[in-house]
Amino acid sequence: MFIESFKVEGPNVKYTDNEIQSVYNYETTELVHENMNGTYQWVVKPKTVKYEFKTDIHVPKLGVMLVGWGGNNGSTLTGAVIANREGISWPTKDKVQQPNYFGSLTQASTIRVGSYNGEEIYAPFKSLLPMVNPEDVVFGGWDISDMNLADAMVRAKVFDIDLQKQLRPYMESMVPLPGIYDPDFIAANQGERANNVIKGTKKEQVQQIIKDIRDFKEKNKVDKVVVLWTANTERYSNVIVGLNDTMESLLGSLEKNESEISPSTLYAIACVLENVPFINGSPQNTFVPGLIDLAIQRNCLIGGDDFKSGQTKMKSVLVDFLVGAGIKPTSIVSYNHLGNNDGMNLSAPQTFRSKEISKSNVVDDMVSSNGILYEPGEHPDHVVVIKYVPYVGDSKRAMDEYTSEIFMGGKNTIVLHNTCEDSLLAAPIILDLVLLAELSTRIQLKAEGEGKFHSFHPVATILSYLTKAPLVPPDTPVVNALSKQRAMLENILRACIGLAPENNMILEYK
Ligand code: NAI
Repeated sequence: MFIESFKVEGPNVKYTDNEIQSVYNYETTELVHENMNGTYQWVVKPKTVKYEFKTDIHVPKLGVMLVGWGGNNGSTLTGAVIANREGISWPTKDKVQQPNYFGSLTQASTIRVGSYNGEEIYAPFKSLLPMVNPEDVVFGGWDISDMNLADAMVRAKVFDIDLQKQLRPYMESMVPLPGIYDPDFIAANQGERANNVIKGTKKEQVQQIIKDIRDFKEKNKVDKVVVLWTANTERYSNVIVGLNDTMESLLGSLEKNESEISPSTLYAIACVLENVPFINGSPQNTFVPGLIDLAIQRNCLIGGDDFKSGQTKMKSVLVDFLVGAGIKPTSIVSYNHLGNNDGMNLSAPQTFRSKEISKSNVVDDMVSSNGILYEPGEHPDHVVVIKYVPYVGDSKRAMDEYTSEIFMGGKNTIVLHNTCEDSLLAAPIILDLVLLAELSTRIQLKAEGEGKFHSFHPVATILSYLTKAPLVPPDTPVVNALSKQRAMLENILRACIGLAPENNMILEYK
């Protein structure tokens, strides 16, 4: 059964006019490696840590500024939100299609809240805590191409033609601000569309981005802004001591107009200096150590990297299932071909390399979790191929072959073939990223013994469900397994309203 909303009543939660206060007993373990009569033994000691959370319930008017607004993802997300807001439906050869948010965790998934008369009761994920309604978001942003969003939507070839026609009047007047362009960082084949660029030194470019954010806030009367990079994949920046390894070196390099600071890092510097959350949806290392340092010093949310939309999402489910079932994946081979502008950009070796890296590490945590299957340091063969095939456009094809060792030397090969519009997978993820980033800035917590409430660590691991290569603070484990990432997010939000984590024990029926 499905319910629209609910309220928690109990000793662990209190609703005031301004916030939800909750107490949560975090049941965890402590490990010790003890010398017992001459032999070392692992001892696991259960422990409980009391946490307090408080969540500001005032939902702000939110502005979302996309870097690469005129791209396939940017135009698709903007059009989709307008269609939902205006209730625009469109005829297809099958039926009259209604707008929806399918693929969005916050808008289209549910959580279990309990059972009632022997029936499981589910509520929308977004009913957990007060969140911004996507239809109230004001969109804006930058693009190195000056095409308005209506024409960009046509260029993207993602939406059905009738929907495009109905959306045109809403999107024609939306024109991206000039962007920071550096041909050294993206493929040469992007040069043709770069007709809308910010001139000046790197420092002046950062200052312009800060000004753009302030003007956007003022003009649209929004309380908060979140910036998200959905522009082209850049090549990796070199990380060099003295150049970008610390906050001081990075800001010093900005003064010196050092060529190795990428456009995405420049946008991120501007956002962090302005205390605006910045999320990176592409694979490159925007967050060089100096930028992470800057974000930590300024306590400004950063999150990334690379939207986890299709093939990798499947991989982080399938390998988790195989390894969790005691089956040993030994070879994972992933082919992609796509024909949109992202695919054209990725046809250059340096930008492809960024994608290859971000797609490669996604099974590491699952493999290292099972020392029965894998020797220390052993890893399945893992190969990723991406090819540009213009004809298929945004309809990306992903083909995967998983070979595993099974019982008694047997082998098992699973082959997957996945086809769908890439941007229709990515756009709802962008929405989740910005809404959850905004929400997480309203949550404060403290563990027992800590004097003061504080926000989450500025490196937002809470967003990792949505990213291929989750950015984590130094010395923090990376979790790629999708079900663990989802449980982490859901359970933290449950803790904020005084609910226990979903433990799936269903003891009441045992
Ligand atoms: P796209 O090529 O259609 O859009 C990118 C836009 O960014 C273009 O309009 C381009 O003019 C603009 N741009 C490039 N450099 C810029 C800069 N420095 N400043 C401002 N604008 C700039 O690509 P699409 O399909 O929208 O994808 C965007 C990004 O998202 C790509 O990096 C892609 O790898 C990443 N991504 C996409 C996924 C998907 O499923 N669609 C999944 C994972 C990541």
